[in-house]
Amino acid sequence: NRGCKLVGCGSAVPKLQISNDDLSKIVETSDEWISARTGIRNRHVLSVEDSLVGLATEAARNALQMANVEPDDIDLVLMCTSTPEDLFGSAPQIQRALGCTRSPLSYDITAACSGFLMGLVSAACHVRGGGFQNVLVIGADALSRFVDWTDRGTCILFGDAAGAVVVQACSSEEDGMFAFDLHSDGDGARHLNLSLGHDKIDAAIGSNGAVTGFPPRRQSYSCINMNGKEVFRFAVKCVPQSIEAALQKAGLNGSNIDWLLLHQANQRIIDAVATRLKVPPEQVLSNLAHYGNTSAASIPLALDEAVRSGKVQPGHIIAASGFGAGLTWGSSIIKW
Ligand code: ACO
Repeated sequence: NRGCKLVGCGSAVPKLQISNDDLSKIVETSDEWISARTGIRNRHVLSVEDSLVGLATEAARNALQMANVEPDDIDLVLMCTSTPEDLFGSAPQIQRALGCTRSPLSYDITAACSGFLMGLVSAACHVRGGGFQNVLVIGADALSRFVDWTDRGTCILFGDAAGAVVVQACSSEEDGMFAFDLHSDGDGARHLNLSLGHDKIDAAIGSNGAVTGFPPRRQSYSCINMNGKEVFRFAVKCVPQSIEAALQKAGLNGSNIDWLLLHQANQRIIDAVATRLKVPPEQVLSNLAHYGNTSAASIPLALDEAVRSGKVQPGHIIAASGFGAGLTWGSSIIKW
């Protein structure tokens, strides 16, 4: 009979900024084209001296401060990222940097731009079923490190950021996380991926049984590979369906929500989903003009800005939805 609720949020962005005009100096594009097609005007990116762990730690500290929760009161840290600095996982490093000495557990979650949503659901499950008291959910990504800066179709879209929330146990009467709806479809991975380089491991057993190509060559990740049109189509079809399903599970409909908070990928996607759900523009949260698509960070970053600016008030109902590579997508109906 335990419930869970959000009690704090925080965010952090790198100092270095790249405007559309800056991009037009390295690829054939223009501010007009990028603004009209995406709504993006600017993005923040990590410099070579910056670390994603540092950015995530800063966002987490801000969330803990708002929640009035001490690092030692956190019993689980979830780091949602697809661009970790350590493929073995970054969450324990953040746990250590924050000084969560009592925390028995921290781990990473990889689900691209849906990562934060998946982390939120995992946190709710850990609190409701696992007896955890305070779970820190961080969404942080540095896709700038995996962008082909000569490809105008993708390099205009992405920025780096981190956002975090604290999910806390409460009574079922106070419950603030009403319903979830989650999906994935591996068939769609061909439309959006970031995979190991094409020179696949050449270690093999030859026809005579001898090992050839040994030792295997070291592999590295290639750049983001995307079919923008297919991703666009997927988002405007699946996201409204998912939000409607989550609302139905919560016993609500579109008129009950105060805010629509989508993964910030493209303003045209946000507008299309809002129109389909009949949510008026003044109830739609959007900040991608300033930050671009920050992947797993985009939802907690936009939430944090909306809470700190006073737009989102205690008791407001938010329909949040993440979507992206995998393909993965999912929605959650939450009360702030
Ligand atoms: N500047 C100028 N021209 C450009 C640019 C650019 N930056 N990029 C492409 N073009 C050109 C193309 O070459 C093409 O020219 P052509 O007609 O001569 O061939 C023309 O503009 C149209 O290109 P399209 O790719 O068809 O443009 P589209 O309207 O589909 O917009 C965009 C492209 C913005 C990428 C759009 O498809 C989109 O936003 N899709 C969703 C992508 C997305 O959200 N991805 C992230 C998912 S989240 C995650 O998990 C990472």
